[in-house]
Amino acid sequence: MNRILIGAQWGDEGKGKIIDLLAQKSDVIVRYQGGNNAGHTVKFDDEKFILHLIPSGILHPGKICVIGNGVVLDPAAFFEEVDVLESKGIRVRGRLLISDAAHLLFPYHKLMDQLREESLVKKKGMIGTTKKGIGPCYADKMARLGIRISDLRNPGYFKERLAAVLKERNEILRKIYKHPGLSFQEVFSRYNSYRKRLLDFAADTSLYLYQASRKGKSILFEGAQGTMLDVDHGTYPYVTSSNATVGGAIAGSGVSPTLIDKVMGVVKAYTTRVGEGPFPTQFPPKLMETIQTKGEEYGSTTGRPRRCGWFDAVIARHAVRINGLDELAVMKLDVLSGLSEIKIARAYRIGSKIYRDYPSSTFDFSKCRPVYETLRGWQEDVSGIQRWKDLPERARCYLKRLEALLETPIKIVSVGSKRAQTIFL
Ligand code: IMP
Repeated sequence: MNRILIGAQWGDEGKGKIIDLLAQKSDVIVRYQGGNNAGHTVKFDDEKFILHLIPSGILHPGKICVIGNGVVLDPAAFFEEVDVLESKGIRVRGRLLISDAAHLLFPYHKLMDQLREESLVKKKGMIGTTKKGIGPCYADKMARLGIRISDLRNPGYFKERLAAVLKERNEILRKIYKHPGLSFQEVFSRYNSYRKRLLDFAADTSLYLYQASRKGKSILFEGAQGTMLDVDHGTYPYVTSSNATVGGAIAGSGVSPTLIDKVMGVVKAYTTRVGEGPFPTQFPPKLMETIQTKGEEYGSTTGRPRRCGWFDAVIARHAVRINGLDELAVMKLDVLSGLSEIKIARAYRIGSKIYRDYPSSTFDFSKCRPVYETLRGWQEDVSGIQRWKDLPERARCYLKRLEALLETPIKIVSVGSKRAQTIFL
């Protein structure tokens, strides 16, 4: 069984926990897009792990993990993660492959991301990025100015290419951002020192995955971010710079779509988003604070508070369609306990016009007001419940309504961060 796991909202849906659960039944776990802007939180044995680059499958002994060609890799962040994992007794070496074709993220990417965001604050055009350099690194990839892991195999070529790219970057840093620029010698010697360690992980991972699949191995594709942050299908320009939808899994791992058996979408029982951009179902301040606190809604990469709102069935249906979701995992149902009523946006309104589908223009989207239906809330604490039939009737009604609106079956309901706090349907 080869399965792709996709975030069906604006990221932070709780994919880390589901990947961790599904990894138990998989042989190989693959990250295929994004970089260390992601933060997948996994809790077990009262220990909390936040993984940014390495697939969460690494926490399961015996599983092989792959960082695919679609990922942008910051070596400093990567080795920091390797060291933390290994210091906790989790072996990474020998269990992780990095695609030869993955792009390296350099300090000038990070710097450009930070300087651009700072300059946009004044012009009110800020994206609210994680400032990890993701956008500039993908921009270089597309402009054919990127440097890939495989380039490290040829030190002369790597040095020449880095010198040429950095020369141009420094011009931009000096002329546009009034920054002194970066020293070539420093950047080169730092990356040269990573060379051997990185190459120990490097492989043709597309070929590896093909061969693993031919041998009947089960592959889990671990999406980062979410559908509404997809560079093509999300709320552009308030998006990340990769394809967080299902196509990203194919292009970013070099695996054929014909090898995929199932696509699972992960949603929170409500909606959150970090960073700027329109968010029609955003809660009023008091409710926002309650849910932020109860749901611990603070970014696992930047620590920023996440904006919270009611479940938006319009964007979730968009995710169902774009990704062809076969099944759903609904996370953090426990956070909604204690509310007298719960709303779901089933459509949008602009003036007197009703929209059932997500409008592809972000300008139109920013004008959308939610059309809500209201359900009665439940008061019981559901965090200890492990069977569907033990859930309060109103909680079941809520979930059934989500299923009906999304026309997709719910397979997993999560009622807490621990592995045991999970209902399988
Ligand atoms: P970037 O990916 O750092 O360029 O950020 C672009 C947008 O994506 C910003 O709104 C970020 O807050 C958002 N973003 C990036 N990664 C994540 C994530 O893992 N979870 C939630 N939002 C994210």
